[in-house]
Amino acid sequence: MAAPIDNQKSPIANVPRHVAIIMDGNGRWAQQRGLPRIKGHEQGAESVRAVLRAARQAGVKYLTLYAFSTENWIRPKDEVEGLMNLLAGFMDHYEGDLLKNKIRLRVMGQIERLPQKVQKKLTKLMEKSAKDYEYTLIVALSYGSRLEIADAARAIARKAAKGELDPETVNEETVAQHLYLPDVPDPELMIRTSGELRLSNFMLWQLSYAELYVTDVFWPDFREREFFQALEAFNRRGRRYGGIVTQ
Ligand code: FPP
Repeated sequence: MAAPIDNQKSPIANVPRHVAIIMDGNGRWAQQRGLPRIKGHEQGAESVRAVLRAARQAGVKYLTLYAFSTENWIRPKDEVEGLMNLLAGFMDHYEGDLLKNKIRLRVMGQIERLPQKVQKKLTKLMEKSAKDYEYTLIVALSYGSRLEIADAARAIARKAAKGELDPETVNEETVAQHLYLPDVPDPELMIRTSGELRLSNFMLWQLSYAELYVTDVFWPDFREREFFQALEAFNRRGRRYGGIVTQ
């Protein structure tokens, strides 16, 4: 049995304000058990709930989850539909919990490509949860980082063409200000489950200085304890930003 979380015993001194996660391995988790892939996604949704709780308990203010990439549209129709239904079900089921716990829901990606039913639920919950919140859950849906950067470049070019912006003044800050969620601070920690050592077109700009933590654990098995282990590993790292270690 998993040991209970005791954050009192092992306090995390330096809690990242923003943690981003590539939730990988749902399919392999299911395959190992001879189950259909969607069962892995269902258990993965349970991990979302567990990690959201752990993040809040630790004091993480922003949690970004890579739920569906622009590349994921090429998966079998059944699986895409199953994932969309799971997302809709998650919102129905946890709306009360999200609001009670002051968690704001935001979406990063091409929301307009999602099924109408999912778009409606997301929009409604995003509005409701934006009124009174302490934590932010960002779900990356139909998201691709190169697309996000290209969208930012196009927006900047449009402004320059209209004379609203001098091209000579374009700098890193300008680009950052034209990404999908410009007000959200960059993640300090990026977790990837199921062992792959790749960024998979996820937040390439925002993760420039992030600590990367990769575990072999499949996402459906990644729960509170695994999340705290990642925070502890983050605490053992010396962050330099190109300078020298000061801690
Ligand atoms: C990666 O596993 C996982 C996904 C593409 C989907 C993640 C979605 C959920 C956990 C559903 C619920 C989400 C929310 C936000 C409520 P994979 O299918 O790529 O696994 P594999 O690499 O083993 O095939």
